[in-house]
Amino acid sequence: MDFADSKRRGNVPGRFLAAAILITVCIFVYKQSLNSSNERNLFSYHEAGVTHVLVTGGAGYIGSHAALRLLKDSYRVTIVDNLSRGNIGAVRILQQLFPEPGRLQFVKADLGDAKAVNKIFSENAFDAVMHFAAVAYVGESTLEPLRYYHNITSNTLLVLEAMAAHNVKTLIYSSTCATYGEPKTMPITEETKQVPINPYGKAKKMAEDIILDFSKNSNMAVMILRYFNVIGSDPEGRLGEAPRPELREQGRISGACFDAARGIISGLKVRGIDYATPDGTCVRDYIDVTDLVDAHVKALANAQPSKVGIYNVGTGKGSSVKEFVEACKKATGADIKVEYLGRRPGDYAKVYSDPSKIREELNWTAQHTNLQQSLQTAWRWQKKHFNGYGSLNIMA
Ligand SMILES: NC(=O)c1ccc[n+]([C@@H]2O[C@H](COP(=O)([O-])OP(=O)(O)OC[C@H]3O[C@@H](n4cnc5c(N)ncnc54)[C@H](O)[C@@H]3O)[C@@H](O)[C@H]2O)c1
Ligand SMILES: *[C@@H]1O[C@H](CO)[C@@H](O)[C@H](O)[C@H]1NC(C)=O
Ligand SMILES: *[C@@H]1O[C@H](CO)[C@@H](O)[C@H](O)[C@H]1NC(C)=O
Ligand SMILES: *[C@@H]1O[C@H](CO)[C@@H](O)[C@H](O)[C@H]1NC(C)=O
Repeated sequence: MDFADSKRRGNVPGRFLAAAILITVCIFVYKQSLNSSNERNLFSYHEAGVTHVLVTGGAGYIGSHAALRLLKDSYRVTIVDNLSRGNIGAVRILQQLFPEPGRLQFVKADLGDAKAVNKIFSENAFDAVMHFAAVAYVGESTLEPLRYYHNITSNTLLVLEAMAAHNVKTLIYSSTCATYGEPKTMPITEETKQVPINPYGKAKKMAEDIILDFSKNSNMAVMILRYFNVIGSDPEGRLGEAPRPELREQGRISGACFDAARGIISGLKVRGIDYATPDGTCVRDYIDVTDLVDAHVKALANAQPSKVGIYNVGTGKGSSVKEFVEACKKATGADIKVEYLGRRPGDYAKVYSDPSKIREELNWTAQHTNLQQSLQTAWRWQKKHFNGYGSLNIMA
């Protein structure tokens, strides 16, 4: 008895020593693991006071501008993009601007790949998702509708499922005025009936419907933003719009205007001069990308659990194609040749928004409403980047 007792007592210092060594080793191993995967750890835990936003399509035109604004406002950002249409060069620039650990990470993945999407959600602690990734050309959507239903509707469903499974609480969704189709009365309010007339608009409307049905029985905070025609670029000249050369044909009017100014196309083709508008050409509502991303930040800040906010994001003012071309000529200083042709099938005379709901509820109004100035900003970037993101676009 005595012998056994004394033996036990005699072991106490030894046990302390063993425990101390064990703890030291544990701390050392833990610190080593922190050093080796520092980045990763910051993205995989929720941190008080830090909002971690997943930006899908963040290598694209609007997504990259949104990521820049979020980073500037101290958000933590994860960009997921499969670079099918975006530019790794834009991501490289953001990484150069925000190199600190835990600010920005880029994950190359296809949002149509459920396994990959789930892996991303299980390895990262997102507080919110801004879902920009999509294919977004009306003309292309009529030629390749499945590409649109797949990469818009089906991918949105996958993202939503992953959000639900991993309890991500807030979704800001990129929708479009194309979901309204050809309403008879202008301006378009959020109450205007949605009757989309092309696969692009229909795919986005279906994605909206899926989100709305889901949100009826969920506490997710949802904001759906319906953008009008987006133009412009970062006023500080860091980012711009750089669609793949093969998509130029599909392109939007601002791209065509810059291509004409550069002389890589012979001039601008204006289709339709007999519409019931003041100068006979189509009227559209052009929203500057800087204002658009501001609407996203305000939407994120005001998103409420179990609620859905739906907002038009436009200026409320229509500009005709003729006015656009004049602004483009002045912005670029180029004497752009304009050819007037017959109407293009599927175009409608006038589309412009009533943005009063977003003004009243989110205190957002468009600030960059001078077409010529927005185009001048975009042209400044275009002039320096005739090659898009050029050598920055080479994958590391
Ligand atoms: N540009 C406009 O005028 C406009 C107007 C209304 C709505 N929108 C919407 O805004 C969003 C962004 O448009 P944008 O003009 O920046 O387009 P964009 O093509 O520049 O960007 C889209 C990005 O999504 C990525 N992407 C596409 N499919 C993907 C997939 N399966 N997996 C991973 N990444 C994928 C592309 O690589 C690209 O970087 C889209 O949802 C679009 O429908 C744009
Ligand atoms: C992007 O995803 C599509 C499927 O949606 C795939 O076909 C394509 O190869 C991917 N592109 C890249 C560059 O990974
Ligand atoms: C979209 O979906 C189609 C399948 O319909 C796929 O082949 C294509 O690569 C996808 N991605 C893009 C960016 O179009
Ligand atoms: C609304 O925004 C303006 C600036 O855009 C700001 O000065 C004003 O304080 C804001 N109002 C509210 C109620 O937040």
